[in-house]
This record gives sequence, structure tokens and C-alpha cells, in this order.
Amino acid sequence: QAAEGAVFYLFGATGDLAKRKLFPALFSLYKEGKLAENFAVVGLARRPRTDDQFRTDVYESIVEFCRYKADDAALWNKFAEHFTYMSLDINNVDGFRELNKRSLELDQKFNIPGNRLFYLALAPELFGPVSFNLRDGGLLESGGWKRLVIEKPFGYDLETARKLNGQLSQVFKEEEIYRIDHYLGKEMVQNIEAIRFANAFFEPLWNNKHIANVQISLAETVGVEDRGGYYDKSGALRDMMQNHMLQMLTIIAMEPPSRLQPEDIRDEKVKVLRSLRPFKNGEEVRANVVRGQYSEGSLGTKSLTGYRQEDSVNPESVTETYFGARVHVDNFRWAGVPFYIRTGKRLPVKTTEIVIEFKNVPENVLFRAGEEVNPNLLVIRVNPMEGIYIKFNAKRPGTDNDLQPVAMEFCQSCQIGINTPEAYERLIFDAARGESTRFTRWDEVSQAWAFVDEIAKAWKETDSDLAFYPAGSWGPEVMDQILAQDGFNWWPVN
Ligand code: BG6
Repeated sequence: QAAEGAVFYLFGATGDLAKRKLFPALFSLYKEGKLAENFAVVGLARRPRTDDQFRTDVYESIVEFCRYKADDAALWNKFAEHFTYMSLDINNVDGFRELNKRSLELDQKFNIPGNRLFYLALAPELFGPVSFNLRDGGLLESGGWKRLVIEKPFGYDLETARKLNGQLSQVFKEEEIYRIDHYLGKEMVQNIEAIRFANAFFEPLWNNKHIANVQISLAETVGVEDRGGYYDKSGALRDMMQNHMLQMLTIIAMEPPSRLQPEDIRDEKVKVLRSLRPFKNGEEVRANVVRGQYSEGSLGTKSLTGYRQEDSVNPESVTETYFGARVHVDNFRWAGVPFYIRTGKRLPVKTTEIVIEFKNVPENVLFRAGEEVNPNLLVIRVNPMEGIYIKFNAKRPGTDNDLQPVAMEFCQSCQIGINTPEAYERLIFDAARGESTRFTRWDEVSQAWAFVDEIAKAWKETDSDLAFYPAGSWGPEVMDQILAQDGFNWWPVN
């Protein structure tokens, strides 16, 4: 069913996110009938652009990045008619008044019942000022619903996040604010609930009696590319851990929600965040958390520069491009089960995987005494491969009772005919139909910051723990040692 008609305001319409993700997502939704004819998109940025130029930008982005081709001219023309552009100085309320006038015309033209979706693909320091001008320019008085969609980062720490939230909540209600974490839009992250709660294979085992540890890896081969200016202030802790990593962890660890409804699910996720064992001091942080930075190295035949040599990066930067940690969820279900998480740039492969390692069967006399039995593994492949596989033991053919690990695999991304929607398609569609499950609520964001702030505080005391790793390697070895202390190792990914 199509989302209700609305005017979509794309702030940052000439930027990278709009080009790579947002225009293609809108086109896919349109093509699949998830946007009916009663919608309009207003591209907004400072740069002057005609409607025609803007439509050409949109077209080019779809040709390059969309999973559907724009080769049906009639469809493309119909789609493009909904797009218009306005140059806007976001600090000047007069422009917003003009925008409001145009919006009323668009309502008329496309038969839109005054619904407004503001998508801010902007730097977070602009979220507050834009919200105030939306209000003062009269854009919130159209009679329909209004929703604000914002990108991360939501603040720099708990304090700045609170301040930002304070500003937004002068204009929008919590239920009108859609904070994007694009990992929540990924099919396989959404699939975790189905895997956990719809399978008798897994549900009864999903606790500390049967699970030995959980491993979450989000590896990237890219460096900081042209984002050095942003990244050097952010680092992996704020860029990935505070949001994507903790989100995946909470969905793995949460209790079954009473219903698959937004608030029920988000309540359970917050409880997990509240159960995270806090690091009490710098020593605890250093014993459980690893930060690394890539130095010169190579990937295949390509030689790679070190982080400090990247554009717009301080040559003496101590910003981490790798984050690894052992964390505990101190509740009844998970007491005693370590969660190992790691994410980094310039690692050997691009992959996001979650490994659930099960405890072994009790030692017994059935198989060769003294020989380790491989643990059962459930592996959830999130990205870019999508699928699930399990590893278990079977008899090696031709032997009496030797064991060998074997795998059973469901590869979602290999299935012909499954063309998985992009995360942004799902998220824009959800925001347009008022489905907020896959967005982060304020209490989730604030709990996540509280946890992350402790780590950031400890890192300020000293940077002696910053470990360098060659670009193209798996990150600092100290992280492996943390697992080894507990008698575990990372299971190979990919
Ligand atoms: C973004 C980070 O949120 O996620 C980037 O800012 C990172 O630094 C990206 O590269 C990874 O997303 P994906 O979907 O490619 O795994």
C-alpha cells in the first residue's frame, strides 16, 4: 500500500547522500507503487538551480545508483514532474515563508492534504536553526501531519545531544522526530527478530545457558575517503559504535517484545542499553576496549597511506579508525556472556557479520577423548552478503567417529529474483507512513551516549593505548588477546 501523500523537503539536495541514496530510494519506491501520485519533492540547498537542472541531477543519480533502471521514459517523466528545486538560505526566515507559499501550491497541484516530511541531510548543528525557521516560516501550519527526519550524528556526546534534543523538542514532538540509523533499515538487521522469535531451533537456546559468546564485526575496506574533516573529530567510537554497533547488539540481546509494535520494540531495546555494564574507570576501559589507527599498508597489490596522511586529517591525530570491545549485558538472560564487537576502516574485507557461538555439549566419552569439538555457530550475514548459516558437527565419512564441522547456508543475496530494497528505501517509506520502529528514540540515543561517553572520557586521560595497525590488516592484535583471555577467538568472517 502506498504511503499517504506528502510534500518531501530535502535539505541538502545537492549533497552526496541525496545523490547516492535518497533520489534512488524515492525512485524505487515510486516504481513499486509505494509512493502514489500525490507527492512532491522540493530540493533545497543554497546553490541556485533550475527545476530542469535539478531533475537532471536526480536522473543522473538514478542511472548511477538505483537498483531499478530509469529506462521507461514515460515513467521517468511522470516521476520527474513531482520534483522542484528552491535555493534557500537556511538562516533567513523569509526564504521559509516563500517555501511555505510554494508548498501550498504543491498541495493544490498534487492534491496533497498538507502533510509535511522534512528530511535534513545537513550537518547536525543546523537541525535546531532549520527547525525554528520551519516553525517561524509557517510551514507547520498546513493542517496535515509533520515529520522531521534527521541523519546522524545526533550530537557529539550526551551533553550536546541533550542540547540538540532540547531545541528540536521546542518545535516537534518526540513521535514526530525520526532519527535515522541506516543499519535499522537493512533487511538482515530486521531479520534478526524473525530468526530469533520465529524459530524453535534458536529461541529456547538464546541465553547464557547455551550461548558462549556473541561476536559482531563491521569491517570496511575504505579509509576515510574525502570525509577526513568530519571523521577526525568523530572517530569509530562516535561514527559506528554509538549507533550501528549498539543497535545490532540491542536487537540480538533484547527480550521478546510483547508485540511487534514500535514502542514495544523500542522499550525492549532501551532495557538492553540500560543493562550494559558501565566501565567504571580508565583502567576498566583499557582492559576491555581497544582503539586503533591505520598506518601505511596494502590491500592486494594496492598500497595504502596511513590515516595521518589522509586529506584534512591532523598529521598527529589520535583519532581511532578501529574500535573493539568486550561488553557485558548484565541481566538475567545474558549474565556471563561476553559480547565482542569490532569495527574499523581499512580492514581486509567489507563485511558486517554477527556470530553466535553456542556452548559445547558436555564433555563425554563418545568422541575421541581430549579432542576439541567445534562449537555450533549461527552466523548472520548483514552486509554486503545477506544470509544466514549454521555450523555444526557431523561424522567424517569413512572414519569410525571422527567429527568434521559442516555448514548449512541460506544465502539471501544469491537468490535470483530477490532484489533487496536499500536501507534508505525502507526508512523513507516508513517515515512517510508514520512507522517509527526502525528509528531511534531519544532514550535509546541518550543511553547509548552515556555508555560511549565513559569510554571517551577514559581516552582523554591518556592516548598510550592507541594501537597502530597496518592498513589492510584485521586491526590491533590486542583485541585478539582480549578474546583469548576468555578462551575464545574471532571466527573468520566472510
Ligand atoms: C556510516 C558511517 O554511518 O556508515 C560511515 O558514517 C560508514 O563511516 C558507513 O562507512 C557504513 O555503512 P554501510 O551500510 O556501508 O555498512
